[in-house]
Amino acid sequence: MVIMPNAKDTQLLDKLNRPIKDLRISLTDRCQFRCSYCLPAEHVDVMRQHSQPEKHLSFTQIIQTVKAFAALGVNKIRLTGGEPLLRKNLSTLIQDIKAIDGIEEVALTTNAGLLNPVLNEMIEAGLDRITVSIDAIEPTLFSQITGTKVNVSDILDSIDQCLASPLKQVKVNCVIQKGINDHQIIPMLDHFRGSGVIVRFIEFMDVGNINGWQPQQVFESKQILKLIADQWPFSPKSAIHIGEVADRFEFEDGMGEFGLISSISEPFCHDCNRARLSTDGQIYTCLFASQGHDIKSMINQPKELQQTISQIWQQREDQYSAQRRKTPKNNLPKIEMFVIGG
Ligand code: GTP
Ligand code: 5AD
Ligand code: SF4
Ligand code: SF4
Repeated sequence: MVIMPNAKDTQLLDKLNRPIKDLRISLTDRCQFRCSYCLPAEHVDVMRQHSQPEKHLSFTQIIQTVKAFAALGVNKIRLTGGEPLLRKNLSTLIQDIKAIDGIEEVALTTNAGLLNPVLNEMIEAGLDRITVSIDAIEPTLFSQITGTKVNVSDILDSIDQCLASPLKQVKVNCVIQKGINDHQIIPMLDHFRGSGVIVRFIEFMDVGNINGWQPQQVFESKQILKLIADQWPFSPKSAIHIGEVADRFEFEDGMGEFGLISSISEPFCHDCNRARLSTDGQIYTCLFASQGHDIKSMINQPKELQQTISQIWQQREDQYSAQRRKTPKNNLPKIEMFVIGG
């Protein structure tokens, strides 16, 4: 029998005793960038076939779903995409999410191409933190990787605007692909050291199927650490929360911190407390899932919705990254990153 815990007295745990804490909501499976490892221009038909904006959850449906997750223990919401800023009036959504009992924090992951005009209203609505994806600081390489006409200088200006705002934290996510942008690690840190931005380098992962990921494309975190150590002394910092994806490091000269997200070389499934909601109303319990759980039909029945989410979580035993070497899903369909948003 499946027991229905109430977050107030019992913690909802999955089969590996992991609580549910973090809900990542994909607001759209569309993006105006064409990153070579996520949504390359030659595969844009995959996005067009997948995307059915008329079936995207409305803000009301998202709010109802967040209420159910919050009642089960989720306290942190991350808005992602595709590119979440392609949805209009995000500030309304942010304000309504922040008003939900139990939600302590709302963060946004964006490519920042559309950030400038809407930043202030989102902050006024209660947005706590922003993470900007940027894989190269060198203009030509940035254009090649992202397949967009947006200039890297505009993205850097938007990051400066975030830094000058009351946001609690600004991070940069940088996916490193061997031989493509590993030479950007030092320039990236050179640019952001001392600014307050936390740069996190992410090992290129085998998310989805269209990027044709190969192990030899991974530039492992230990290589990244070696490059940085040759430049600036640093020491490890302890994690602030259980289940953090990044290992933190602090520059010894007081110029801030950086992080490494090592899903390939040092998987972090053991304390993974993240659930994901796709824009068409599916819950995914792993970034590498082949299938979601459709909850769209029950969004208007709060009790049933909460019970179903609870059952999904209690039956969860995902630990794909930890098992990748033994059971890679090379030939199985996996959810694409532009659908589920990282
Ligand atoms: P903070 O709240 O700032 O700690 O953010 P976060 O690190 O949870 O969020 P972010 O979306 O910035 O995550 C950084 C990147 O880490 C994602 O874009 C993914 O590439 C990767 N990542 C996040 N969660 C997972 C996960 O559960 N599994 C794996 N394999 N990678 C993840
Ligand atoms: N491996 C690692 N990170 C990825 N991202 C997108 N695809 C991959 C991948 N295959 C990152 C993006 C963004 C976040 C949502 O996920 O660069 O920062
Ligand atoms: Fe690039 Fe993010 Fe858009 Fe994918 S969703 S194409 S990683 S900006
Ligand atoms: Fe969580 Fe799946 Fe990532 Fe492991 S691979 S950390 S279970 S999302």
